[in-house]
Amino acid sequence: MTVFPRFDTGFFGRGRGMRLQMGAARRMSGQAMTQTTDEGDLAASGIHHLTLRGDAAVLKTEISAIILEAFGNSEISSIESIKSENYYALVLQAQNKVNALDPVRRLVRAHHADFSRIVGTKDLSAQRISYLRAVRPSREVGDEFVDFHRESLFNPDMVHAFNVWIPLSQAATGNVLRYVPGSHHIPDEEIVCRNEGVGMRGVEKFGAGHKVGLLYDRKTIVSGVDFSAVDAMRVPEGQMVVFDGNLIHGAGRNDTNDIRFSLDFRIIPARRVMNHSVNFAAGDAYFTELYQP
Ligand SMILES: [Fe+2]
Repeated sequence: MTVFPRFDTGFFGRGRGMRLQMGAARRMSGQAMTQTTDEGDLAASGIHHLTLRGDAAVLKTEISAIILEAFGNSEISSIESIKSENYYALVLQAQNKVNALDPVRRLVRAHHADFSRIVGTKDLSAQRISYLRAVRPSREVGDEFVDFHRESLFNPDMVHAFNVWIPLSQAATGNVLRYVPGSHHIPDEEIVCRNEGVGMRGVEKFGAGHKVGLLYDRKTIVSGVDFSAVDAMRVPEGQMVVFDGNLIHGAGRNDTNDIRFSLDFRIIPARRVMNHSVNFAAGDAYFTELYQP
C-alpha cells in the first residue's frame, strides 16, 4: 500500500480513494515562509525559483482543498474511465472554484517585488484567470497535456510574457513540467513547427478543454531545438517557478498512478500588453492591469 507521506507526492492512488491528508496541506503552508531566489539559475536556464510566502502559501492550501473536494471523493479508477470531454468539464468546474479565490491577484500581490524584478518592471499585467492542470495517469500527447512549445507559438501577444507555474502535487519528483535549459534565447525563426491541424482529443474551440488551457490547434516542434538537453522542472516543496515564456517547455506523460495537478498563469510588463487576444475561459481580454504598486 502506498502511504501518503508528503503533500507533493500525489493525491490519489490507482484504484484507491482519497489519500490527501489535510494535515499535510497545513504543514505545507507552514514550511513556505522563507523566500529564496536563484538569480544565477535564471540566467543559465531561463527559470527562477521562488518560495511561496504569506498569502501565496495560504492560497496553495485553499486550492488543495478545492482539488480534494473535486477529485478526492471518487475512486481513481472511475475518474480514469471518464471520457475526455467530460473530464475537461470536471477540471473546468474545479478551475472555476480556484479562480473564485482570486489566485492571480493574490499571488502577484504576495510576490510583487519578485515578479517585478524578474519581469523588469513594477508595472505588471497578468492573465485574467489561472489554468488548473489535472493530468490523469498514462495519457498520451494529444489527450490532456500540452507538448513542447513556447507561448508565442500560439499567441504572439506572449512574446514578452513570463509563466508562473505552481506544482500542486509531485513537485519533487520527475513527474513535472519539462523544459530545454537556455532555449528562451533561440530566435523564433530557427524553430520549425508542424501544424497538426487537429486539436487534442475532445478539445473544441470555446469548449471546456479549451477553457482549461488545452489546445484545439496543436503544433509540434520538428527542428531548431535540441531536445537531448531536456530537463525536469523539479520544484522543492512550497516553491513555484517563474520562467520566460519563450523557454521551450511542455508537460510530459504522467507515468505515476496519481493525477498530476498544477496551476499556471502569465505575467507581462503592462506596456507590452497588446490585447489582441481574448481569454475564452475568462470571456474577456487575456491580460488585465490590476497590479500597479
Ligand atoms: Fe506554456
